[in-house]
Amino acid sequence: MSDRPEVDDHSGTETTGHEWDGIKELNTPLPRWWLTIWFGCIAIAIVYMVLMPSWPLPWADTYLKGLRHYSERATFEKDMVKLAASRGPDEARLINTALDQIENNPELLNFAMAAGKSAFGDNCATCHGSGGVGTFGYPALVDDVWLWGGTLDDIKYTITNGIRSTGDDTRFSQMPAFGRDGLLSKDEIKDLVEYVVSLSGREADKAAVARAQPLFADNCAMCHGEDGKGTRELGAPNLTDADWLYAGDRATITETITNSRNGVMPTWQGRLEPWTIQALAVYVHSLGGGE
Ligand code: HEC
Ligand code: HEC
Repeated sequence: MSDRPEVDDHSGTETTGHEWDGIKELNTPLPRWWLTIWFGCIAIAIVYMVLMPSWPLPWADTYLKGLRHYSERATFEKDMVKLAASRGPDEARLINTALDQIENNPELLNFAMAAGKSAFGDNCATCHGSGGVGTFGYPALVDDVWLWGGTLDDIKYTITNGIRSTGDDTRFSQMPAFGRDGLLSKDEIKDLVEYVVSLSGREADKAAVARAQPLFADNCAMCHGEDGKGTRELGAPNLTDADWLYAGDRATITETITNSRNGVMPTWQGRLEPWTIQALAVYVHSLGGGE
């Protein structure tokens, strides 16, 4: 074989000198542009490895940190500290301002509304619905019908201490399970259902309503009031309006009187920061029904 590589007659390309059964291998190197990109990538990878965190070093329980010492987590923590520092004064002002003064301060009100809305979405919307529209057993917070009271102080107290929740200061009352516990017979409950239906101004069996009158006075009036308009101190709903915490049809009312409901709203003291509870009170109060 000569020093100069052999050139294939047909294609004009040099051969590698390898030959099998008369078939010769042509020497076709990778194109220059491809090689340029290939080596370029390797160079970039090496530069990146030197500057940025790259390989894990499991035996030393660490990793190559790179010359820039970049860390996603450290950046995040720094951002959080910055955020806390920027919010700190607002949080302090919120907690130090009387509830009824917050609405007079547009800047503070803005902060309370934004923080309240976000905390509501995270903690309250699961039960009260998004935006506080309410659902079966979970009162709407957007209307002006209140079980326990709709002033800023009432709302803050409810959020802080809960309803039938843990803690000594929780709001509490307990409607008896009149049917389950045998306090009233099935027939008496049937009559009372007609009475409750008539209270909200709907067509009801007149004879049953008359029979139920003394039953209501004896068993229900101490909480729901002689006139059925409810008692806030006990969270007993007004039965004369068209607004129902549960539902106003006969089957649901029968179930309520037979087994009672006694819905539970959690205590938020200790689970949310005081300033968050303050913001939530302002936010809920602003939803439309604040008193
Ligand atoms: C686990 C479900 C649940 C969660 C979560 C919840 N609540 Fe409630 N909430 C209730 C129930 C049930 C009631 C009504 C209890 C009753 O029957 O008196 C209630 C009642 C209330 C009331 C009183 C309404 C009235 O008419 O007096 C307010 C105000 C309130 N919730 C605000 C909130 C806020 C703010 C949050 C979030 C921090 C929240 N709730 C989270 C279940 C919940
Ligand atoms: C100890 C107080 C108490 C007594 C007594 C009581 N209730 Fe209630 N009642 C409540 C409370 C509090 C609620 C709503 C809160 C809950 O149970 O979740 C309620 C809810 C209801 C509801 C559901 C209202 C709605 O909006 O869905 C009906 C109906 C009702 N009561 C009827 C009666 C009748 C009829 C009697 C008498 C046989 C009676 N209650 C006796 C406290 C009482």
